[in-house]
Amino acid sequence: MIVCLCKQVSCKDIRSAAGNGVETLRDLSRELGVATQCGKCAQCARGILQETLRNSAGGEDVAA
Ligand code: FES
Repeated sequence: MIVCLCKQVSCKDIRSAAGNGVETLRDLSRELGVATQCGKCAQCARGILQETLRNSAGGEDVAA
């Protein structure tokens, strides 16, 4: 599913960025351009990023 329409970034792209060391929305914006135009995707993109980081941490809670 496309999360950021402006930059055509999918949830898969976000998950893969999280696996490559991206930990914050700011990193994500720098790497993929997410939320750099209209910004409507920011909340959703952050949610997917945090969920992915939580899962990859083996279920431990990552500070929001
Ligand atoms: Fe992501 Fe517009 S949808 S910046």
